[in-house]
Amino acid sequence: MEYTEQVMDHFMNPRNMGEMDDASGVGTVGNAKCGDIMRIYIKVEDDVITDVKFKTFGCGAAIATSSKATELVKGMTLAEAEKLTNKMVMDALGGLPPVKVHCSVLAEEALHAAIQDYRDRLEKGLAPRTEEDDENVRYV
Ligand code: FES
Repeated sequence: MEYTEQVMDHFMNPRNMGEMDDASGVGTVGNAKCGDIMRIYIKVEDDVITDVKFKTFGCGAAIATSSKATELVKGMTLAEAEKLTNKMVMDALGGLPPVKVHCSVLAEEALHAAIQDYRDRLEKGLAPRTEEDDENVRYV
């Protein structure tokens, strides 16, 4: 199995890895194929993602694709970020071995879940979510 240089770079030096105390939205998803979990935090100001962090119990490919995805969406509007697909992230990394494609779905789904969480909270006037809100993991 061959990884591209970009994948190795993002795996060895992940961008935006960590947690966020004052996130506007948080999305957590699990991978139905391997059971690994991904959480993405976004900070939103005026409809723009001004900051983003990820935390994962996934493999190297999950780390690399989340790192790249966070890099790509920082500064995007929510509407732009909603269009991000795992294929776009994989392409930006020069591809992934076929057996690892499912790992890249985690970043896309967790990002979309975080945006949905932000929109739900805005609509319902709820306080920003906390870790305790996030115990129910949806498997994709
Ligand atoms: Fe689970 Fe890659 S094997 S995310």
